[in-house]
Formats: sequence, C-alpha cells, structure tokens
Amino acid sequence: MPAAHIDPDFVRMLPKAEVHVHLEGCFSPSDLASLAAQHGEPLPRPVEQLFDFAGFDEFLEFLSWSCGLLRTVDDVAAAAYSYASRATASGVVIADIIVNPTHWASWRGDLAGLIGALDRGFSAAEVDGLASVGLCISILRLQTAAEAVQLVDELIALGHPRVVALSIDGNEALSGRTGPRFADAFRRAGAGGLYRTVHAGESSGPEGIRDALDLLGADRLDHGVRAIEDPSLVAELVDRGIPLGICPTSNLTLGVFPSWQQHPLDALRLAGVRVSVNSDDPGFLAIDLAGEYERSAATFGWSDDTLRAVAATSLDVCFMNNRR
Ligand code: ADE
Ligand code: ZN
Repeated sequence: MPAAHIDPDFVRMLPKAEVHVHLEGCFSPSDLASLAAQHGEPLPRPVEQLFDFAGFDEFLEFLSWSCGLLRTVDDVAAAAYSYASRATASGVVIADIIVNPTHWASWRGDLAGLIGALDRGFSAAEVDGLASVGLCISILRLQTAAEAVQLVDELIALGHPRVVALSIDGNEALSGRTGPRFADAFRRAGAGGLYRTVHAGESSGPEGIRDALDLLGADRLDHGVRAIEDPSLVAELVDRGIPLGICPTSNLTLGVFPSWQQHPLDALRLAGVRVSVNSDDPGFLAIDLAGEYERSAATFGWSDDTLRAVAATSLDVCFMNNRR
C-alpha cells in the first residue's frame, strides 16, 4: 500500500460522529489517581502500572473499580463533560456513548440519578458548543434475563430524551451464547422506541453476529469485525445496511487481529459494509479518535475523499443524529 500523505489538521477538522465508545473506558491513569485521592481511596497498584491487566476480564473488573470512584453528581457530570470536550477536539460533532450501569457501584438502584447526572454534564457541554452526546445504556453479557428486562422497563418508564439506545457489552467468549437470554429485553427496547446496538464479532465469531441480528434485532454492531470470516454474513450486512462501529486499536490490543495491516476495516469497507472508526476505550488505550482516523488512512492508503466518506457514514449511522 503506498504511504498516503495525511494532513493531521484535515483529519481532525473533518466533522464526524463517534458511535462506539464506553464512558467507563475514558479515564486516564491520572484521571483515576485524582478521583481516588479526592475520595480517599488507595490505588490498587502504582499509577504507572494501573492499566497492567492479565486479560480482558481483569480489564472489565477494573472498569467497576474505576467507576466506583465517581460518587457524586458532580463527579459523573464532570466525566460526561470531559468526554464531550475530548471528542470535540477530535472533530466529533455528535456521539453515542455506551454506559453500563453495572460498573457504577455508587449508583446501584438509582438509574434515574445516574442518567440525570450524565445529562447534566452533556447538557453543559452542549451549552458550551461541544459535541452533542446520546446515551446507549448497556446490559452486561453476564447478567440474567430478568435483570436485562428490568433495566429496559426502567429505561422506557423513565423516557429520558438523552437515552437513544439499548446496548450490550462484556465478554462473549466467557459468557457463551447469550442471544436467546436477552431476546426479550431487546424486543421490548425496540417496541419502546429505543435503537439497539450489540457488541458482537469481537470475542465471538460470525455466530455471535448472527444472533445479534436474528435474536436481538441489532440496528448497529459494536465491532462486528469477525464477520470477515463468513462471506455470506458480509453480504447480509451489506444488503441490510447494518453499520459496524469499528475500533482498530482496541482490536489489536485485545489480540483480535495481529496488526493494522491484517485488520479487516478496509476489506469490509470495500465490500460495501457501512463502517465507522471509533476509539472504544480511549483512556485505557491512550488514543484519541483523530489518531485512529490518521492510522487508518496511513495503513490503508485512504484519500481525503475516503476519509470524508467514512466520516459521513459515521454521521449517518449515529443514533443521536437520527433521534426518534
Ligand atoms: N466494555 C468496555 N470495553 C469493552 C470492549 N472492548 N468489549 C466489550 N465490552 C467492553
Ligand atoms: Zn466496546
């Protein structure tokens, strides 16, 4: 692939949406060290080693420790504002952010309080001219069917305008096949007017993606990249216009693909799948969205027109940009 000339300012200024990012994964080690100091909590290990994890599950457990540090409305509102501010610096004008209530120990039993605090931060960001952010409230793959239904029923009863979608995340490899378990919750979410986004095809293969489509009614897939293993599935994604929220650095860090060159982002795009570029857990990965666009363009030789087209797709597929 010829090395394309990439103008970092052009990439950064390009208006774009981010559609796959977890608020839980947005904290840097120094963010967490200052929150811990503020609340008198000891760090589990020195700040330089805070993100040394043995594997994906240890990472997911750490998210609960991190979010356990956000105890007040001000803590949560500041985290929301801070995401909008950093996203805006990467050219994001609108975003859908995933928040999984299971990680937020101080807010257990107070979903309305958590959403209200997030809304305060995102509303303040909008007033300041920063990116507009919608919430995708997420089920953890290890939860029960009853817990998932309860979450959806609460979300629908709440009817908060900031909430645009139901999501599901966590480790599919560990939880096994859970599509059937969550079908009822996702059906209720759809009937209640929420969009549906599903983590699949990261720690699961094509079979996880099929369940996301057939059982969970996914409007969009988070990752979805392992569809590349099944050409008939790629054809279905194209035919049905199902968008993928792709996060290349996250996939390389978790070992889903061995290198940028072997990542299927461009192969999927060229096959006609609606792909967007996203950061997933930018605090943990120490990346920003503009950098992900730059690395994608450099790896795959993207022209300015291709960059514009990918950014345009991200805006088209953003739930917050297509509010019901
Ligand atoms: N939660 C936070 N980051 C995640 C990821 N990359 N996959 C699944 N669940 C997550
Ligand atoms: Zn994710």
